[in-house]
Amino acid sequence: MTTRLLGFVLLVLSSTIVQSHSSTSPNNLLPQQTLTLSVADHGAVGDGLHYDTLPIQSTIDACSASASAACRVVFPPGTYLTATVFLKSGVVLDIQKGAKILGGTKLEDYPREQSRWYVVVAEDAAEVGITGGGVIDGQGLEFVERFDERKNVMVSWNRTGACFDDECRPRLVGFLRCRDVRVWNVSLTQPAYWCLHIVKCENTSIHDVSIYGDFNTPNNDGIDIEDSNNTVITRCNINTGDDAICPKTSTAPLYNLTATNCWIRTKSSAIKLGSASWFEFKGLVFDNITIVDSHRGLGLQIRDGGNVSDITFSNINITTRYYDPSWWGRAEPIYVTTCPRHEGYKAGSISNVQFINITAISENGVLLSGSRRGPLRNLRFFNVDLTYARWTNYDDGFVDYRPGCQELVNHSTAGMIMEHIHGLVVENVIMRWSEAHSGRWNNPLDFRPSTVNNISLLNFHSGLTVEDFSNLRNEIGSMGNEF
Ligand SMILES: *[C@@H]1O[C@H](CO)[C@@H](O)[C@H](O)[C@H]1NC(C)=O
Ligand SMILES: *[C@@H]1O[C@H](CO)[C@@H](O)[C@H](O)[C@H]1NC(C)=O
Ligand SMILES: *[C@@H]1O[C@H](CO)[C@@H](O)[C@H](O)[C@H]1NC(C)=O
Ligand SMILES: *[C@@H]1O[C@H](CO)[C@@H](O)[C@H](O)[C@H]1NC(C)=O
Ligand SMILES: *[C@@H]1O[C@H](CO)[C@@H](O)[C@H](O)[C@H]1NC(C)=O
Ligand SMILES: *[C@@H]1O[C@H](CO)[C@@H](O)[C@H](O)[C@H]1NC(C)=O
Ligand SMILES: *[C@@H]1O[C@H](CO)[C@@H](O)[C@H](O)[C@H]1NC(C)=O
Ligand SMILES: *[C@@H]1O[C@H](CO)[C@@H](O)[C@H](O)[C@H]1NC(C)=O
Ligand SMILES: *[C@@H]1O[C@H](CO)[C@@H](O)[C@H](O)[C@H]1NC(C)=O
Ligand SMILES: *[C@@H]1O[C@H](CO)[C@@H](O)[C@H](O)[C@H]1NC(C)=O
Ligand SMILES: *[C@@H]1O[C@H](CO)[C@@H](O)[C@H](O)[C@H]1NC(C)=O
Repeated sequence: MTTRLLGFVLLVLSSTIVQSHSSTSPNNLLPQQTLTLSVADHGAVGDGLHYDTLPIQSTIDACSASASAACRVVFPPGTYLTATVFLKSGVVLDIQKGAKILGGTKLEDYPREQSRWYVVVAEDAAEVGITGGGVIDGQGLEFVERFDERKNVMVSWNRTGACFDDECRPRLVGFLRCRDVRVWNVSLTQPAYWCLHIVKCENTSIHDVSIYGDFNTPNNDGIDIEDSNNTVITRCNINTGDDAICPKTSTAPLYNLTATNCWIRTKSSAIKLGSASWFEFKGLVFDNITIVDSHRGLGLQIRDGGNVSDITFSNINITTRYYDPSWWGRAEPIYVTTCPRHEGYKAGSISNVQFINITAISENGVLLSGSRRGPLRNLRFFNVDLTYARWTNYDDGFVDYRPGCQELVNHSTAGMIMEHIHGLVVENVIMRWSEAHSGRWNNPLDFRPSTVNNISLLNFHSGLTVEDFSNLRNEIGSMGNEF
């Protein structure tokens, strides 16, 4: 007891206390305090070789237990190898420029339950965050069993039986059942599996975050937001192999997600709703986003009966191209689909979706595909400029319903393929076809007969063009800013 008390006194003495008077507080009797503790003062060596797990965790625990309103855990420059770190209420990790948290690569570095495999995780916490300008690194390449340009083969930690195949790897950063989460000014790099995972959270802000994942590694998603409300993502730069911004509903609905001012490159979908889609998605806005060289641009991949409504995509530039068909995506700039994943599953409906001010250059057309029991209702395209060309040698001529449904189906390419739609307005839409490759696929609009009802085409134009788009593609590509 005495030594613990002494330890606490020393800890307080060795820490910096920053006081600031709260202007909002009705009286100034209780000034807000921010306590700052350094992991170095708790014995972390930061040499990248020795595990710093215990010093890091004891600093966080001391920080969270302190009486101050907010507390920062500072990582000075250095490389901190660690097993899972548990972030606690009231604590912000301040990973300084030059500092890196390095995730362990052994199964015993992670908790027993596969659902808790993260390098950094906050569970049931409030007012938590990560910032500082530094890096969290998952050492994803250490999980590659065989490198392959098309798709790497990954190791599987299936020893516990909790997960399947190669999807059995630790995620990088997770916030589970948290509220008031803020992640900003930090780089998240080389996740072994999903990168930033927000689950059942309320009020999350993610801004000025840079995410980098190996382009050939499957499942290294950028940001997965699951069963959470009121999430804001802005000024993010995501360059990774798998889906970049990916809202999902697994056990509860997802409301109010806004993502703006981002730059994205991915071998899968840049924006993807699904495919886990058991509950409602409502009130999502995606604005001012640049998507380059991706396998799919804006995607709704609804497969499990959840309904989707009130979604807006605006001011978005897209280039999509084909990659190896083992990755979901067929170069569609826009992909709106709902179908039952397996026989007997429900089909969710999708309604009130708008695409405004979108420019795309792509190797494939737009797919708008509802299903018999899950139609698409009230879709609107306004000021959309679509250019179709071919510049890779992958085969075309498939509609991609994966995962599940009818999988890959042979179907000639078209500017916009439409099936099972009630209510579609296409206004100020232009389709341009690169002359060099138009032979097999200058088919602007392709309707599945008797499934499309109530459509309006206003100021719609489609025609061949002789413009060379390679320069334009490069221009768009160069707009990505490195952090
Ligand atoms: C990000 O962190 C760096 C390094 O700590 C700092 O210089 C910079 O001001 C921070 N930027 C923002 C937007 O907070
Ligand atoms: C994963 O492990 C479980 C239990 O050990 C086993 O039943 C299952 O077949 C394994 N699956 C794969 C894909 O390796
Ligand atoms: C949301 O969380 C931030 C901290 O991340 C906090 O400052 C803000 O007050 C919260 N907003 C609401 C509406 O709870
Ligand atoms: C999100 O809002 C819905 C509807 O109010 C609610 O049922 C759900 O529990 C909320 N989720 C979270 C994580 O707060
Ligand atoms: C979503 O945002 C709307 C409009 O701001 C608000 O009325 C609603 O309560 C929010 N939903 C949730 C679940 O917080
Ligand atoms: C759009 O996002 C970029 C960053 O990707 C930013 O520089 C620019 O100011 C944003 N434009 C608007 C109108 O907000
Ligand atoms: C899209 O491209 C246009 C024309 O090059 C440019 O003015 C606009 O800022 C770009 N917007 C985004 C979000 O990249
Ligand atoms: C989707 O909407 C249909 C029709 O309103 C409804 O029957 C179904 O229960 C909804 N699905 C979910 C998962 O809420
Ligand atoms: C679409 O672009 C026009 C012209 O650039 C602009 O005035 C309008 O506000 C934009 N619409 C949206 C919803 O951002
Ligand atoms: C036809 O579609 C428009 C726009 O999507 C919608 O406003 C209107 O209610 C629909 N009319 C009928 C009869 O369904
Ligand atoms: C689909 O097309 C491929 C060639 O692209 C062909 O080998 C295959 O037989 C076709 N399948 C069907 C069902 O027509």
